[in-house]
Formats: sequence, C-alpha cells, structure tokens
Amino acid sequence: MTKVLVLLLAMTLAAFGSSAALAAGEPSTHVPTLLVTGANRGIGLEFARQYVEREWKVIATARDPSNASELQQLASQHSNLVIEKLDLADNASITALAKKYRGQPIDVLLNNAGYLGEPDGQALGKTFDYPMFEEIMRVNAYAPLLMSQAFLENVLAGEQKKIIALTSGIGSVTLASRFGGLVFYRMSKASLDLGMRALQADVRSRGIKVGLLVPGEVETQMLRDSGYSGRGKSPDDAARALIGVIDGLNDQDAKLLSFDGTIVPF
Ligand SMILES: NC(=O)c1ccc[n+]([C@@H]2O[C@H](COP(=O)([O-])OP(=O)(O)OC[C@H]3O[C@@H](n4cnc5c(N)ncnc54)[C@H](OP(=O)(O)O)[C@@H]3O)[C@@H](O)[C@H]2O)c1
Repeated sequence: MTKVLVLLLAMTLAAFGSSAALAAGEPSTHVPTLLVTGANRGIGLEFARQYVEREWKVIATARDPSNASELQQLASQHSNLVIEKLDLADNASITALAKKYRGQPIDVLLNNAGYLGEPDGQALGKTFDYPMFEEIMRVNAYAPLLMSQAFLENVLAGEQKKIIALTSGIGSVTLASRFGGLVFYRMSKASLDLGMRALQADVRSRGIKVGLLVPGEVETQMLRDSGYSGRGKSPDDAARALIGVIDGLNDQDAKLLSFDGTIVPF
C-alpha cells in the first residue's frame, strides 16, 4: 500500500515537473525513436542517416546486417543508431524483434522495405512466377501490417504515434490502366494501401496516424531493376522530402501522400 502511494506521488511530481518545464518554455528533453526497415541501402539507408543526424534514436533493420557495410559505417559514427536483423518474409523474425523491444516507445514506425521482383516474371505474355508473387505480396503488403500489429503497443507508447509505409504511385487503382507491367508489385502496393487504410480506421480512436508515402522515382537498386532508371531523384533528396511529409503528418485519414505533400489518388 505504502509502495503504491509512493509510486503515485512520484508520478504526480514527474507530471508536474514536465508541465512546469513546458510552462516555463524549456525545450522538451524527449528523444524520439524511429524504427526503419530495409535500412541497408536505398531510401531506407538515407532515412537512417538523416534521422540519426537529427539526433533521434534509430533502430535500423536489415535482412543481412553483415552485408550492410554503409549502415555499419553509420553505426560506428553514431551511438544513437542500432542495427537489428529483420527478414520481413519471415513472421518469426518480426515477432522476435517485437519481443526484444517490448516496452520501448517508438515514435515513428517506418515500413520502408520493399521488393520489386523480376519484371519478366510479372508481365503479361511472359511466364507468371507464382513463388515470386507470394514473396512480393508477403514483403510489401503483409509484412507492414504484421509489423504494425507487432509494434502497436510501442507506437502507442511513443509521443508522435505514427505508422508509415512506403507505397508507390504505380499501385494507385485510379491510375492503374495508364500502362502495363510490374503487375505483382503494383497489386502488392494497392493491397498495402487498402490494408493500411483499414488499419487507420482501427487505430484512429487511439491517436495513431497512418501515412502512405509515395516517393516518386528515386535512383536506387529498385528503380534500376525496374528499367525506369535515369530520371529519378537521389535517395538523399527523396528521404529529406519524405521526412518533411512525415513531420507534417497530422491527418488521421491515411491518404496517399507524395514526396511533395500532394495527394495521389487511391
Ligand atoms: N526507388 C523508387 O523509385 C521507388 C518508387 C516508389 C516506391 N518505392 C518504395 O520505396 C521503398 C524503398 O525502396 P528503394 O527504392 O530504397 O529500394 P531498394 O534500394 O531496392 O531497397 C529495398 C530494401 O528493402 C529490403 N528488403 C527487401 N526484401 C526484404 C525482406 N524480405 N526483408 C527485409 N528487407 C527486405 C532490401 O533489403 P536487401 O538489400 O536485403 O534485399 C532493401 O533494404 C520500397 O518500399 C519501394 O517499394 C521506391
């Protein structure tokens, strides 16, 4: 009983202390936390770099950390970055990471990783590759949902309460009939968009904001593999623009937001 009273008193004093600090205009001492997937290369590596430079605590995941030399180098220069192994095609890998971080508040859960697949295995007139279809759907559509579920309590405990997923304009249902190709990848992103919008409806009353971000064309391995390389922006510019959109996210309607903040039709 005495222990409970002491705890309640301590909590009241802590709450009073922080509101008094705010009232006095003192800067907040809160260090926000980011968890970003697919941080070994491309846009994910730039997210890790830029959030670390903003002095966030960054949990950067990679499928094979021993092969993530640039991320390793970043971690050696910044103590606020930790690298974790995470294979999004493996449910057990997701639940094990969530177990490890139980109780750790996460301000922004950034589902960045994505898998394009081979263009030839998902084009009409070629042979459809069903195992590849499954992996694309699993990594792009299912894994962000499972991550959101596995880390929900962490996000609820964070101050910003944001769940983000990187989607693609070529997954827009409205714009889909403009050109063909990359069918599995585009289906996976449309499915991701629907899943995350449904998730938003589930978590809205708990204060979570869900953002679906469209990076546009970015010069990464994925764009090179797609055959559209040559006119995209740098991963550095893309991450900077997308972080601006994440910072400004306060709408609880999970719209598709382009890197420049405009709305892409669903
Ligand atoms: N680049 C563009 O023009 C563009 C346009 C629209 C949307 N996007 C989206 O932006 C996001 C980032 O793409 P990017 O351009 O940076 O692509 P990227 O350079 O190909 O990087 C993809 C990342 O996802 C990771 N990944 C793939 N499968 C995984 C798995 N099973 N488990 C864990 N990680 C996995 C990769 O890890 P490994 O190195 O281990 O494979 C890599 O870190 C993706 O969601 C993509 O769909 C990109």
